[in-house]
Amino acid sequence: MDRVLSGMQPSGYLHLGNLMGALRNWVSLQDGYDCYYFVADWHALTTNYTNPSIIKEYTYDLVLNFLAAGLDPDKCTIFIQSRILEHAELHILLSMITPLGWLERVPSYKEKKEEIKDRDMGTYGFLGYPVLQSADILMYTAKYVPVGIDQVPHLEITREIARRFNHLYKKEVLTEPEPLLTESPKITGLDGRKMSKSYDNAIYLNDAPEVVERKILTMVTDTQRIRRTDPGDPEKSPVYQLHKVFSSEEELKEVAEGCRTAAIGCKECKKILIKNVFEVLEPIWAKRRALEDNPHQLRETLDSGIERATRVARETMALVRDTLGMS
Ligand code: TRP
Repeated sequence: MDRVLSGMQPSGYLHLGNLMGALRNWVSLQDGYDCYYFVADWHALTTNYTNPSIIKEYTYDLVLNFLAAGLDPDKCTIFIQSRILEHAELHILLSMITPLGWLERVPSYKEKKEEIKDRDMGTYGFLGYPVLQSADILMYTAKYVPVGIDQVPHLEITREIARRFNHLYKKEVLTEPEPLLTESPKITGLDGRKMSKSYDNAIYLNDAPEVVERKILTMVTDTQRIRRTDPGDPEKSPVYQLHKVFSSEEELKEVAEGCRTAAIGCKECKKILIKNVFEVLEPIWAKRRALEDNPHQLRETLDSGIERATRVARETMALVRDTLGMS
């Protein structure tokens, strides 16, 4: 089986956008590929170095959700980046051959650096983010990396670094990975913008049912539809955007027509959405609860994932050190 690898940063609690966009895709890949999935906690540190203690909490939430959403530790290898020190070693070795220009050109680097105002993002670690990501990927000779479109420049650097390494040392040591672009539905947030923790408009997997219900019930709809008897335009309502992801064809038609003809009210429309979002979340909540009641299972899953990942990482590093004459 071809190997797949992907990681997520523990930089916030997991929300519906992350679930529908990335995690569900990871789950569906585990049957056809040899999958390695990890929590990129060192990556979270590049932006959150001023408040590292929160990363532990988000890491726990992420691992819990990996399992609750259906990742099966018998089928895939789940681990935490910082527990495999080989990532740091490969990172430093790759940093030796990575031209600064490649890193300075990454679009997300400049954007984020300007966007984040409350911390100094002119750090060495933040510039080297894609080198660390390359180490993550090349360590496991991953063939495919399921990511969103925003990560493609990082994958391109990974490929360039692998090529440069093999070329410089005249040996095919590192494998160039390919992005596996995730066709993910756009998840609209509570305010109509893209769902994101930084917009404070997200529904989190660890929200209580009452909280999810209240969040949906207080969403804005078509702001032109003022009275219950006014006809509305479903396309102007973020509630309808969520229906597109969570509701059946029939329900979608029903709420769209109901909105246009004022046959149903916004509250009724939201109740249908709530039912469908609950259908997705209820099994996840149940599994989260079971895992929280049984911390041994979580520990065992991580221990065995870390062990398996370590084995592969040691093989790669033996080869890399040997290539550099440092074994
Ligand atoms: N940069 C990725 C993100 O923010 C997370 C990540 C770190 C990653 N290392 C990786 C993704 C390796 C894929 C492969 O989404």
